[in-house]
Amino acid sequence: MSTSLAWDERFAGGDFQFGEAPNRYLEELRPWLAAGMRALALGDGEGRNGVWLAAQGLRVTSLDWSAVGMAKAAALAERRGVALATVVADAAAWDYPESGFDLVAWIYVHLPPEDRAAAARGVLRAMAPGGLLALECFTPAQQGRRSGGPKMPELLWSRAIVEELFGELEVLELLEGTVSLDEGPRHQGPAEVVRALLRKRG
Ligand SMILES: C[S@@+](CC[C@H](N)C(=O)[O-])C[C@H]1O[C@@H](n2cnc3c(N)ncnc32)[C@H](O)[C@@H]1O
Repeated sequence: MSTSLAWDERFAGGDFQFGEAPNRYLEELRPWLAAGMRALALGDGEGRNGVWLAAQGLRVTSLDWSAVGMAKAAALAERRGVALATVVADAAAWDYPESGFDLVAWIYVHLPPEDRAAAARGVLRAMAPGGLLALECFTPAQQGRRSGGPKMPELLWSRAIVEELFGELEVLELLEGTVSLDEGPRHQGPAEVVRALLRKRG
């Protein structure tokens, strides 16, 4: 069972489990970003994605249920000289601010189905009209691969789950397939993922 304490343990120590560089897909989406956009980095772990977004000039809230992860995120932001608001909260139960964000980054956040649906409802509420959702998560084809991801199959994502949870959003990109990961010690090598860039209709 995934718990905040289990993640606290994984994040204890100086190393960054998924590296300090941002997720490559998020980085590829740079042309969609603009300084001043309000961003939510959901399940941001040790903050690599939130801090990178802040360095692009976005106003970033980094949320994770691991207090250890969020402390490391705050320290990374300070080290890079960028502002980052950190929130320690359960993504399935957070009080998502209505239209509070122009971008939500949902990168490798794998929740049990009920929690996933609750977090998705929150994210849909929190997206401003015209706002973007960028998502990259492992799919069932990842099972058996050693490049990362949860062991419990019900936590995995698929194109169909994206379509089911976020069907009201405009699809700018929705791909399922193999990528090559080079993200710290935990995400290394060929991996099976779904990637999505979705936009709330304005
Ligand atoms: C695989 S890590 C990815 C971290 C970060 N998104 C990245 O790409 O570096 C998954 C993260 O999701 C967080 N997480 C899992 N379930 C959560 C929940 N219910 N609420 C908030 N965070 C959660 C974990 O604490 C962990 O930081």
